Amino acid sequence: MKRSVIDTVDLTVEELDGIIKTACDIIDNPKAYSEKCKGKKLATLFFEPSTRTRLSFEAAMLELGGSVIGFSEASSSSAAKGESVADTAKVISCYADIIAMRHPKEGAPYVAAKNASIPLINAGDGSHCHPTQTLADLLTIYREKGRLNDLSVGFCGDLKYGRTVHSLINALSRYTGIKVVLISPNELRLPKYVREGVLEKKGMEYIETTDLESSLNSLDVLYMTRIQRERFFDADEYERLKDSYVLTAEKMQLAKPDTIVLHPLPRVNEISVKVDEDKRACYFKQVLNGKYMRMALILKLLKDAEEGVAPTHSEEHAFVGKLKCLNPRCITSTEQELEHKFEKTDVEGVYKCIYCEAEYKI
Ligand code: NCD
Repeated sequence: MKRSVIDTVDLTVEELDGIIKTACDIIDNPKAYSEKCKGKKLATLFFEPSTRTRLSFEAAMLELGGSVIGFSEASSSSAAKGESVADTAKVISCYADIIAMRHPKEGAPYVAAKNASIPLINAGDGSHCHPTQTLADLLTIYREKGRLNDLSVGFCGDLKYGRTVHSLINALSRYTGIKVVLISPNELRLPKYVREGVLEKKGMEYIETTDLESSLNSLDVLYMTRIQRERFFDADEYERLKDSYVLTAEKMQLAKPDTIVLHPLPRVNEISVKVDEDKRACYFKQVLNGKYMRMALILKLLKDAEEGVAPTHSEEHAFVGKLKCLNPRCITSTEQELEHKFEKTDVEGVYKCIYCEAEYKI
């Protein structure tokens, strides 16, 4: 395994600062980077739909002078024939220098990274993590607000299945003075492993509410999200919840004059197009920032691989026992012969799956 990024916490805060610095330098001097990856290949393995993330990875590599190979749907890869994630990763390692992988199963990119001999970047796994969206979010907050500390950040919408929310909260937990306002229907609350495992563990100030309007005047950043239809097992429940929150130009009048509005996109109904005209709407800037951050991350991981920097993931404390992960979205549910492995959490008697982080009390 080479140094890879499965979630943002795989990078130290200093490394994140370095990536932000490189991205800002790329914005100022794009020419200086146009040949940095000459002769290098990025493989984009997308087992799930994507517009922004895949094209942004591809544009990032092309702007660095490298080239791109890959596929954009599982049906056009050997996954359709039943090939395992582990085998796909071994094969792609023979063709490319770095991988960006999106997969519906949680933990799939980690399994791929363990089996690859080149660095791998998680481009989104199920409802679990989406670290490069977080890089786009962090650069946007940094460029718009001038800081990543002392911010009140509201997350609104599908906090249960929204992987971008989980990754951004994880990343923000390492900065100081962050207050989090969680705005969601009761059915779509932030999962326990993020609420307890990140917010409470790190002693972050947070509140949960179902009301967007009354929260608006306290926020520096409002992070809107789409209700994630593809993650629902019950179509009626999706229909009932899909329009829970719609940010309109009228509601924006309740926000502070300098509140910025972010959204990982795609948007469905949750932000009225009228809001696009508001200068506080930053979601299209966020898209562009994502490309620069992906350029900076590709450069960093290729350099780390060249220098033989060790991977951050270690299974030193993981164990195999009688326990099986029951999360139907976990990669252990489909990858044949993959051992179910668990790690102790900070709570006595509670263990988590090392792939999808689902917790079990025994
Ligand atoms: C997000 C994702 O894929 O999780 N999109 C993206 O990468 N920009 C958000 C979403 O699909 O709602």
